[in-house]
Parts: sequence; structure tokens; C-alpha cells
Amino acid sequence: MDASDPVGAARRDAAIRDAIAEHRSRDGALLPMLHAIQDAIGFVPGDAVAAVAEALNLSLADVHGVLSYYHHFRHEAPARHRVALCRAEACLAAGGDALLEHAQATLGCQLGERRADGALELEAVYCLGLCANAPSALVDGRPRARVDADALQRIATECGVGGAKEQQS
Ligand code: FES
Repeated sequence: MDASDPVGAARRDAAIRDAIAEHRSRDGALLPMLHAIQDAIGFVPGDAVAAVAEALNLSLADVHGVLSYYHHFRHEAPARHRVALCRAEACLAAGGDALLEHAQATLGCQLGERRADGALELEAVYCLGLCANAPSALVDGRPRARVDADALQRIATECGVGGAKEQQS
């Protein structure tokens, strides 16, 4: 799969076209249109901005302004896997800071970032209700308890990454 175009141009173009066709005639169409695009392909690509602006007779700056105001909107395709480490109190007390350091090295990804190859993104969550089994994490939405170095290595394997040395620049 092309990491620079994980969604595929044809699917992306169709999502933009469909969102415009579905919402262009309604009042306040901009936000529903942007949501429809993101719901379909996981983000709002740059080429959607021009298409949406033209359809709604808005400037590019108008559309960019709305996209940047709402943090919900993503500007790049989501990674194939999402790893979220709990950064709340019980997990921090159970070695969460050291675990984060280890996760960043093992997964080849800094907190809040996405690997250049699109394999995964690493984010923070704040309490998963698994405090008694801290430290905890989510991997593609599935909870993991008592996460340690071995568990991180298994997560890296599941996500198809081998660690920081593999990270693309
Ligand atoms: S603080 Fe991490 S699961 Fe509750």
C-alpha cells in the first residue's frame, strides 16, 4: 500500500463528490460536508478544500479556517493502527512515564505523532477504568492491561513495526 495515499485517490475523490452532492443544497452545508468527507475516508484531504470551496462559493481561506478551528478534523490519513497509552494518575504511578519512553522507542513513534510510514499513531488517553491493572493502553480500540516491555513488543509486532530504527525519516 502506498503510505502517502493509504485511502486511494479514487475512493477519496468519490467521497468528496458524494459529500458535495449530498449537502450542497442545505443551509450551513460546510460543516456537514466536511464531516461527511471525514466519516467516509478518515480525514479531510487538501484536494477536498478546493472542491468544497468551489461548491459552496466560499474562499479557500474560509474552508481552511473552519478546518483548523475544529480540532476534530484531521488533515492527514489516519494511521493503520492506533496505540493509546493511559496517562492518568494510576497508570503514571505504575511506571507510566518509563512506559511511554519505552513505547516511543519500541514503536518508533513519539506521543501525539504518526509514523511516517503510516503504520501507527501514538496518543494519550486518560483513564480506561483499568486502574487496578495499570498501566493500561488501547490498541485499535481494544483495552490492554498491565502493559510492560513484553506487551509493547507484541503490540509492535501486531502493528507491523520493528521499532525506532525502522522509523522512516
Ligand atoms: S489511570 Fe490508567 S486506567 Fe485508570
